[in-house]
Amino acid sequence: MSVTQQQVLDALAGVRSPRGVPLTNANVLSPVTVTDGKVFLSISVDASEARAWETVRAQAESVVRALPGVASAMVALTAERKARSAPSRPRAEAGVAPAATHRPPHSPAGSPMARQAEIPGIAAVIAVASGKGGVGKSTTAVNLALGLRDLGLRVGLLDADIYGPSVPRLTGIREKPELNDERKMIPIQRFGLAVMSIGFLVEEDTAMIWRGPMVMSAITQMLRDVTWGTLDVLVVDMPPGTGDAQLTLAQNVPLKGAIIISTPQDLSLIDARRGLAMFKKVNVPVLGIVENMSYFQCPHCGTRSDIFGHGGARHEAERLGVPFLGEIPLHMAIRTSSDAGNPVVVSEPDGPHAAIYRAIGASVRDQLKGAIAAA
Ligand SMILES: Nc1ncnc2c1ncn2[C@@H]1O[C@H](COP(=O)(O)OP(=O)(O)OP(=O)(O)O)[C@@H](O)[C@H]1O
Ligand SMILES: [Mg+2]
Repeated sequence: MSVTQQQVLDALAGVRSPRGVPLTNANVLSPVTVTDGKVFLSISVDASEARAWETVRAQAESVVRALPGVASAMVALTAERKARSAPSRPRAEAGVAPAATHRPPHSPAGSPMARQAEIPGIAAVIAVASGKGGVGKSTTAVNLALGLRDLGLRVGLLDADIYGPSVPRLTGIREKPELNDERKMIPIQRFGLAVMSIGFLVEEDTAMIWRGPMVMSAITQMLRDVTWGTLDVLVVDMPPGTGDAQLTLAQNVPLKGAIIISTPQDLSLIDARRGLAMFKKVNVPVLGIVENMSYFQCPHCGTRSDIFGHGGARHEAERLGVPFLGEIPLHMAIRTSSDAGNPVVVSEPDGPHAAIYRAIGASVRDQLKGAIAAA
């Protein structure tokens, strides 16, 4: 029989905060999620106390794990700086917190890249991002990962879109990750990729209600408490947009580079520019821009129509001095294969779309050669 939320809370009441208060009275717990015996919750504390809380987090995880009916337990610790009542520093830019706000305690100043510990065994972590939702970021991330796989690389895929994880649907993965003896999650293997998504642990609608700092903690655990093994490239499907959560992610994940997905419309390009600015701010190199839904290709006759006036992203990339990685048509096969959990690079490996994703993959690989060769 599966464990209930109340049983989890009863167990957590036996764990004490660093000040000796039962955890359930310390006003730090997120709602507890229980799905098929998999338990997830997070503890949100002030950043200055984060160290003291780490043992509490570990205790909480182990008491929950010890409950009958618990298949796995993940307790995330999230550290956020309390808003001060004194006037705070002005924000550098509307909607984007100054980098210093997110700096973890005890970390040296300087390049964010220098502060992020590499993940052992992974040569290069790259982000697939977009300034705007719904431009095909997840579809591109999955097919790009497969394109890189086709080039002979060992590839992982991390769905960091905690607000709307779509990798379970795109890959048709229904099972939940198992834990190894060290209580690390074992990624699901699919199509030769090591795949991890918050969608494997919680239901999609639960994921939608997470607050920014909790997102970061869960992503850190999905990066570091997962047995990724040896990978040349880990492709991270980022949440859409350039708000605080995305900036924090870009700062805290040891990224070797980022790829921006845009559609050709002006509005999407403006958002793509914001994405570029965000990665620049945290010193993550932009590997290039991909124009998705670039032109319409009729599934019957193959005729091409530039319904959005295609080519905007290429011009934008030239203007901004970043590589242009390629154009992906708006095509029925790309959508239907994704919806069926069988991405187009798998369902039509010899088709024209797979070739485009492999070509984009080749350009990405060439830019990452130094990192991959050094691993
Ligand atoms: N090149 C394409 N041709 C046809 N359909 C596409 C293409 N790219 C994406 N789609 C479809 O567009 C929809 C949105 O794509 P996707 O989920 O990849 O976008 P996203 O940017 O990840 O969205 P979100 O912001 O919600 O995470 C999906 O139904 C997908 O199948
Ligand atoms: Mg998506």
